[in-house]
Amino acid sequence: KIVNVILSGGIGSRLWPLSRKSKPKQYLPIFDEKSLFQLAVERNSSVCDELCVVGGKDNYKLSKQILEDLAIEEYSEIVEASPRNTAAAIAFAALQSDPEDILIVSPSDHLIKNDDLYYKAIQEALELAKQDYIVTFGLKPTGPETGFGYIEFEGQEVISFREKPTQEHAKSFVDSGRFLWNSGMFCFKASVYLEELKKHEPSVYEASSAVFSAKRGVFLDESLSMEIPSISVDYAVMEKTEKIKVVPSFFDWSDMGSFQAIYDFIPANDPRKSNTNLTLNSKKLVEFIGVENVILVETEDAILVLNKDNAQDVKKVYERLEKEN
Ligand code: GDD
Ligand code: MG
Repeated sequence: KIVNVILSGGIGSRLWPLSRKSKPKQYLPIFDEKSLFQLAVERNSSVCDELCVVGGKDNYKLSKQILEDLAIEEYSEIVEASPRNTAAAIAFAALQSDPEDILIVSPSDHLIKNDDLYYKAIQEALELAKQDYIVTFGLKPTGPETGFGYIEFEGQEVISFREKPTQEHAKSFVDSGRFLWNSGMFCFKASVYLEELKKHEPSVYEASSAVFSAKRGVFLDESLSMEIPSISVDYAVMEKTEKIKVVPSFFDWSDMGSFQAIYDFIPANDPRKSNTNLTLNSKKLVEFIGVENVILVETEDAILVLNKDNAQDVKKVYERLEKEN
């Protein structure tokens, strides 16, 4: 059977003050009144037989509420005591599944449009996963972003996988035309993932297995979890495995990681945009005079005003406030 694994571990600190620990970005109804989490569940429900949500204890009630509202009763959950990164989070879902199950791993915080192109890519990935490949989805890069993985490819073959390169490397990758961005979604058999993890990062495999077998109901143990090395699936498996393939994909995709990404995704004629400025979530009348590239975000208790080119710095504000509280 096909299992949709939704990773919902993050808080999305670069979207503060919209995104809070108590309400991370994937649960905010930013698009069409629906949250990114809900959109991810809906998008995959027509191709998958089962749903497995892996997330932290703060997020799990939020996931539960949305699934309840959607009248989805059958799904499994794994509640992490502490986030140990994606290599482990995916291992838990793989251990929970039957070895022959095919997992479609999807982050909970991406926005995807053009559903037809999405389903076409999924079908291609399922065919490869059945043949025991580890499948990535590659998207045409639009700039030398350093926050992504880069896939050097020829058709479905992967020459190399380079997670979060330096600015210089990213630029040469994009200029060469031989690289795609890693979307962060993956498709493989549960058994194949676990074998590759065991082969390339045995300590993550061992520690994750120990944590999984000591699980109480849906909850993982905190002190055992701290034994798991924190490493992402990209470094742990994708950069190393020889079973990797890529499905070059053409759907509209954004990882909605920052206000810049949201800005780029909102069409110019949206009423929230005026010239190059953008207002998000404000109930007030907002006018901009003599300023450009300004994003204004308002919540009940906070206002953020930023230049859209400084979107990555929001994380620093979040971290400072976190320390002060
Ligand atoms: N359950 C769980 N537990 N989920 C987690 C954890 C964890 O410990 N850590 C991260 N996640 C979830 C995040 O919420 C997100 O949905 C997804 O896993 C990916 O994690 P990120 O932290 O957002 O990764 P990234 O953006 O730096 O990089 C990944 O995504 C890029 C595309 O957006 C990589 O796969 C890159 O190669 C890729 O280009
Ligand atoms: Mg991300």
